[in-house]
This record gives sequence, structure tokens and C-alpha cells, in this order.
Amino acid sequence: MRVVAFSSQKGGSGKSTLSAHLSVFADAPGKPALLIDTDPQASLAFWHELRAAETPILVKCTAKDLPTVIDEAKAEGIEWVFIDTPPHNAAAIAEAMRAADLIVVPLRPAVFDIAAVAATLDMAKALNKSALPVINAAPAKRILGEPAVVSEARQALAGLDATAWAGQITHRAAFAHALASGQAVHEFEPSSPAAAEMGKLWEAVRSATGAAPAPKRKGRK
Ligand SMILES: Nc1ncnc2c1ncn2[C@@H]1O[C@H](COP(=O)(O)OP(=O)(O)OP(=O)(O)O)[C@@H](O)[C@H]1O
Ligand SMILES: [Mg+2]
Repeated sequence: MRVVAFSSQKGGSGKSTLSAHLSVFADAPGKPALLIDTDPQASLAFWHELRAAETPILVKCTAKDLPTVIDEAKAEGIEWVFIDTPPHNAAAIAEAMRAADLIVVPLRPAVFDIAAVAATLDMAKALNKSALPVINAAPAKRILGEPAVVSEARQALAGLDATAWAGQITHRAAFAHALASGQAVHEFEPSSPAAAEMGKLWEAVRSATGAAPAPKRKGRK
């Protein structure tokens, strides 16, 4: 079983967006993924209620109950677990980090997000956990290359001894539209650039957790 936590002390950085999407990528017929919402805002519970499909399985729980929920998932043969965390509760974030094999740290390419990421990366380091910063809601790439704010964010992360995921998740309305209909973007618009970017992130997360590349599935690039 592989457990991925999504953490950042900065509100609105993309934790719920990325965790919902990756849980749908991991979900397979007969092998449901588990998405755990530890945020009292319950964004994912809201999304899941809108969802026509029953999977990924969604469980809402407090950080204190996480170890029990994860033990039960393991006993039931769940292969992928994704934990969404609240932005401002260090104790809950630490509990999720303890349970995780990998911590995805979303950040917008903006100065306040980078400052907040330092604290999240320090927590992961103190718990001896690997962290993958993911630049989210970035301006679109141009023919000439990466937007300046994205390159600057990478440099700032390097100054924190961290290497961001080589790709980026661009700011696209398709993500919000997909979530508002209870879907992931690769279900909502399978051939879109948004779906392709998220698919690449899913590959990177698989690789960072030592999982084999994903089998090709319909609707994926
Ligand atoms: N790549 C993106 N493109 C467009 N909109 C995005 C993108 N990522 C996130 N958003 C939007 O930004 C808002 C915040 O995203 P999200 O809820 O995923 O962040 P969060 O880190 O979970 O926030 P919180 O800290 O409040 O839990 C949402 O309205 C979401 O739809
Ligand atoms: Mg959230």
C-alpha cells in the first residue's frame, strides 16, 4: 500500500484539487483508491457527494483516527491512499505526514506560498519523509519556455534545498469545472492539456513512491 499526503500550511495552494485528481487516477475497477479528508472544511466530501461514481472511496476522519483508518485500508487490500490535510493545523499535518510514504506540497508560484512551503518542508524533513513540491496554478508555458514566476519559484525552492517536480500544473478553469461536477479533469475533458498535465503528475508520484508506471487507460494521453 502506498500513502500520499497533500500538505501545505498555505491555504488555497491546491491540496484538495491535487488529492482528488490523483485519487481518481489511482482508482481502478475492483481496486478502489481511498481518499481521506482530514480537513474540517470537507471540500472533498462536497466533491464526492456530487460524484456519480462511488469510487474512489472517501472517508472523513480526524488526524487522531488516521492510523486506524489506514490500518483498516491495509487489511482490506487498498493499494493507494491519499490524505488531504487542512492548511493551518500543524498537529493534523504532522499526523498525515507520519502515515505517508510521500508528501506532495502544492504551491502557487508566489512569494507568500514559497515562504509557507519552507515550514512544510521543514516538518517533512524532521519526520524523515520525502516531499515533492508541485507548482500549481501557474501561468501557461510559452513557446520560449517556462514563465518567469515558475523559474523563480524553482530557484527559491532550490534555496530551501528542495527540488520541485519538473512539470507544472497550469491555472486552468477546467480543474474547477471538473471538480464542480464531481469529476476529475481527465474524466471531464479527457484530451485536454489539463488532463495531460495531471497525468504527468500522477506518473511522477508513482515513480517517487517506487510504483511501476501506470498502465495505459482509455481517455489518457
Ligand atoms: N490549477 C488550478 N487551476 C485553476 N484553479 C485552481 C487550480 N488549483 C486550484 N484551483 C482553485 O483554487 C482554489 C483552491 O484550491 P484547493 O481547494 O485545491 O486548495 P487547498 O490547498 O485545498 O485549499 P485549503 O487550504 O483551503 O484547503 C479552488 O477554488 C480551486 O478550484
Ligand atoms: Mg483543501
